[in-house]
Amino acid sequence: MAETIDINEDLILNYDADVFDTLLRDQTTQRNIFWATSDYEGLGEGFEYNSPILPKLITGKHIRVIRPRTLKARELQSARAREMAEVFTPSWVCNAQNNLIDEAWFGRKDVFNHETKLYDGTPSWEANPEPITFPKGKTWKDYVLDTRLEMTCGEAPYLVSIYDTTTGEYIPIERRIGLLDRKMRVICENTKSTEEWLKWAQEAYKSLYAFEWQGDSLLLAREAMYDSFADYYRYKFGTEPLKESVKDIAYIISWNIFQMDGLKCVIPNSCEPETEDLFGNKVKQPCKGCKDGSILGHNGIAVLVRDWHVKDEEAQVITFSSLLKK
Ligand SMILES: C[S@@+](CC[C@H](N)C(=O)[O-])C[C@H]1O[C@@H](n2cnc3c(N)ncnc32)[C@H](O)[C@@H]1O
Repeated sequence: MAETIDINEDLILNYDADVFDTLLRDQTTQRNIFWATSDYEGLGEGFEYNSPILPKLITGKHIRVIRPRTLKARELQSARAREMAEVFTPSWVCNAQNNLIDEAWFGRKDVFNHETKLYDGTPSWEANPEPITFPKGKTWKDYVLDTRLEMTCGEAPYLVSIYDTTTGEYIPIERRIGLLDRKMRVICENTKSTEEWLKWAQEAYKSLYAFEWQGDSLLLAREAMYDSFADYYRYKFGTEPLKESVKDIAYIISWNIFQMDGLKCVIPNSCEPETEDLFGNKVKQPCKGCKDGSILGHNGIAVLVRDWHVKDEEAQVITFSSLLKK
């Protein structure tokens, strides 16, 4: 794969239009994910805040419309930081925090890498080359199955690290630090056949969840997850994965990396005013959740997620808010 940080939407579309459609799908609304930002409105029809992101709007002559934050113009970066608190975390910080999660899980430090400093003092890390060993009572399969969620994920730097989202620096596969990267490393080290690798790669993707408000960042997060799959397949087997396998992964991604207002557990801006009858006068009021500021009690479109390990497929689909109620 080209060592570029801007994943090319034309390449995905030309590879398979269905895969591209799946990566744009919102499984809650059964429509496409939408922009949920006004940043593109100047480009004309179809780029409005509430419009769906369509393949024709981000491919061909529009190929450079969706770009990672680090390649966006400075003024746009500042506006997004002001309006949506969009400030991305450097890879070395994601690494240090992911290391802490692993330290708790493995019961020892520096499992995947050890933190270092560059000659100029910038924090960095070096990958440990030896295969990962597992503590007594835990196996590599337990590690792959352990569920993780990146909240307000932006371009999902805690999950995947093809590039440093703050500097744009490309990160080679052996040095990647995301939660998906760690699981894929473990799978590559412990499987032999393509069947076994594919089964566990799917488990890894099913175990990782993330949500984000803005449609462009969400798509970049999904694309990074998608691209990582073929990266690791090539790394392990030296060939391309079959299209069917890629389609399965795209489908999992379309469920697990989703668009949501994390303060309300609904599709962004989907709450409707309610009409209240106050002493015979009909008055428009914000919905209960919007009025009292609580996370539950919103009347917007409740976001659906899939718990892949429930046996009955229909029972797998639950509202995200039901997880909080538990
Ligand atoms: C500080 S950035 C963090 C992104 C990423 N997790 C990282 O560490 O680099 C915050 C992200 O939260 C998103 N965001 C802001 N408010 C949100 C909300 N209510 N629900 C979901 N995402 C939100 C923004 O669009 C932005 O991408």
